Amino acid sequence: MNRAFSPERRADLLVKQMTLDEKVAMVHGVKPIPVKGYVGYVPPVERLGIPALTLADGRAAVGNGARDITLFPAPIAAASSWDVSLLAEYGRELGQEQWQKGTNVELGPTIDVVRVPEWGRTFESYGEDPYFNSRMAVAEIEAIQSQGPIADANMYVAMQQESNRFKEDSRVDERTLEEIYLPPFAAAVREGHVGTFMCAYVKTNGVYSCENDFLERGVLRQQFGFDGWVMSDWGATHSTIDSALHGLDQEMPDDKFYGASLKAAIEKGEVSTAALDDHVRNILVTMFRQGLFDKKQTGTWASNARRPEHDAFSRYAAEQGTVLLKNDKGILPLAPGTSIAVIGTSGGKTPKALGGGSSNANPPYIVSPFDGIAKRAGSADKVTYADGTDLIAAARDAHNADVTIVFANTAETEGSDRPDLTLPNNQDALIAVVAAAAKKTIVVLNTGGPVLMPWIDKVAGIVEAWYPGQEDGNAIAAVLYGDVNPAAKLPLTFPHTADQIPTPSKEQWPGVDGQSQYSERLNIGYRWYDANNVAPLFPFGFGLSYTTFKVSHLAVSPATADAAQAITVIVDVSNTGSRKGAEVVQVYVGHPPANGEPPHQLRAFAKVELNPGETKTLTLTIDGDSFSIYDESIHRWAHMPGSYEIFAGTSSRDLPLHAAVQEQ
Ligand code: NOJ
Repeated sequence: MNRAFSPERRADLLVKQMTLDEKVAMVHGVKPIPVKGYVGYVPPVERLGIPALTLADGRAAVGNGARDITLFPAPIAAASSWDVSLLAEYGRELGQEQWQKGTNVELGPTIDVVRVPEWGRTFESYGEDPYFNSRMAVAEIEAIQSQGPIADANMYVAMQQESNRFKEDSRVDERTLEEIYLPPFAAAVREGHVGTFMCAYVKTNGVYSCENDFLERGVLRQQFGFDGWVMSDWGATHSTIDSALHGLDQEMPDDKFYGASLKAAIEKGEVSTAALDDHVRNILVTMFRQGLFDKKQTGTWASNARRPEHDAFSRYAAEQGTVLLKNDKGILPLAPGTSIAVIGTSGGKTPKALGGGSSNANPPYIVSPFDGIAKRAGSADKVTYADGTDLIAAARDAHNADVTIVFANTAETEGSDRPDLTLPNNQDALIAVVAAAAKKTIVVLNTGGPVLMPWIDKVAGIVEAWYPGQEDGNAIAAVLYGDVNPAAKLPLTFPHTADQIPTPSKEQWPGVDGQSQYSERLNIGYRWYDANNVAPLFPFGFGLSYTTFKVSHLAVSPATADAAQAITVIVDVSNTGSRKGAEVVQVYVGHPPANGEPPHQLRAFAKVELNPGETKTLTLTIDGDSFSIYDESIHRWAHMPGSYEIFAGTSSRDLPLHAAVQEQ
């Protein structure tokens, strides 16, 4: 308990005092959980002053049925802001509410790079780019941990399906793993100083994640230098000895493999006491470092974690995450004096404000889009509502209104993937019927990932509002009426058609004979579209505003660089329209062809607010490691000399500015 000692020394001293039973008890959860609420629990060791571990889900809210919490927009929505300071506030408020609820380990964030757009947990992640996800992960993890709880980065790794998640074997080559799927986890360790990782249900290259020596001991500990602890996903432990020897520190949620069977394996000498000590030490070091021994946590699961500022931030985050995808003839923002027909179930009594599974939450309220719009509309402006189940009534409402707003949604959840990217429940037909009857139609999507839009040419406006959280209706009304100028960008690509995706074959996803072949290798997301010269419906990085922007005057320095030297990028961005707004300037790196990389990859971005007519000069940094590839022959990253191209613009498909960098 001597605070003057380092966490490592304190953990060493403590492990020496622990009995075998106390150590074994530390490396697994208990069921049933003696304290109501938490989804995982490790009892305290009162004799030694070791506090209990109280684990709760939290992606967009404190989960597991907690009451008196705030529901924020889904992570994919927060990420669509492309604003790392917003992600930091998101993490701070989530972490604060968890701490208030007595949680000391927050299960989240989910930082996996989205490979498969149908993946049921796409909404829970940040998007399809490793660099982008890394920036978001670092911001959120640091912020959660600044409020008390230890963050738990999910789900380690190559977890890209729900349907067969307990058995699936992700067959992925080492270079693809290192370059695409591992970077957010590396950043979580090196920059985010995350305390724990959750090993995933799936296997990678034939070995379950939680007993995968290559992933747990090789990559996490040796390569990334991780010294926190790895816990299994709930039921993802499959063995005692293999897990104990290959990197799993803690079984969740119970003691199937890490209780009596682990004790027996130790007594028989099949697992050494030193190995058990290492697992216990990894947990204790993290707990000491996070201050769990030194801070008193007074909140309990019954505490009220809500604060008025959190309601306000939830709304702000939803507004900032709403992506304007189409705006023909400036139909948006809505003009005063416009009569409106709101149509669709998610526009009315059953808003689609959150995803399912461990993201499920009990929000204090959800403002429906109809209520939000009706409140915001002028008192003389008629606003009607029809849920769309009666097509004739919906078409009549649409016909009578100046503008029709159709709300369409998907119900995405952990535990199942979407069968395809089509809007379910005949919503495409509803949109088509309504659009045929309406004077002008706007579609608002409440989805967790991309959907197909066969009706795109029949509607004037499209807005992707994701799962916006409790302030749903207020946020969408603010964007539709222009109280907020949309400034969000897609963090993943929307395809034109079902087969126009990087993983069209069933061998790739959901797999054949329990194996998913990551045969598209580095070409996931926009990388695939660019490599195959296929124009998507809406590209990664795309999003409109009520004003217009122009980037100009790209300069990079030095033009000739040494290994690992950072490159400074200077670029001007101007607001060329008539409203104040914010733009995200994106910088991509194109490797020399010999490196075998996708055409260009995001390596820097910055969001900036501009008044009409204003120009700002931005300075961005491309890290030196952007000029390296993972060399499988030496199992290491290698700097690659050659001529690189730097692209700057406002989406992955709108990159008007180029410059060259010579790497020596
Ligand atoms: C399973 C999910 O995969 C994981 O993310 C979650 O934290 C646990 N269940 C606990 O609810």
